[in-house]
Amino acid sequence: MNEVLKFIEDCGVYFLATMDGNKPRVRPFGTIMLYENHLYIQTGKVKEVSKQIAKNPNVELSAFKDGKWIRVSGNLKRDERVEVKKAMLDKYPNLRGMYDENDANTEVLYFEDGVATISSFTDKPIVIKL
Ligand SMILES: Cc1cc2nc3c(=O)[nH]c(=O)nc-3n(C[C@H](O)[C@H](O)[C@H](O)COP(=O)(O)O)c2cc1C
Repeated sequence: MNEVLKFIEDCGVYFLATMDGNKPRVRPFGTIMLYENHLYIQTGKVKEVSKQIAKNPNVELSAFKDGKWIRVSGNLKRDERVEVKKAMLDKYPNLRGMYDENDANTEVLYFEDGVATISSFTDKPIVIKL
């Protein structure tokens, strides 16, 4: 799990794919956190990405660095606990300009039954269950 977190952190940016009806939507994301051994991301409930996840929590993210790439797929589950939102905003204090753990917009979600795969052109893929 730490390997997954570190890989994504080192990439800095990942791309999160959701489904908008039957159309895929992809956008850059950066927030990533391990909490209670779950991989969390952060967004705002007012965003289309949040509405898409609420309708269909099946997502995939991908990122790339140094000839290796990662895919994480699974269902995202919303966590409404203030302490988890706080932990996320403490990790990314710049977000506090837009978000607060007690506002109605801040959303943190974690991968449930997720699978991470780290691949490269040379090595066998490493598969990690989340
Ligand atoms: C480098 C980078 C990192 C980003 N990280 C996040 C993030 O972690 N969470 C988020 O909600 N938006 C993040 N954004 C902004 C989203 O990409 C942007 O709001 C996007 O339009 C959301 O998707 P949507 O339009 O389908 O709702 C980031 C943007 C960039 C350029």
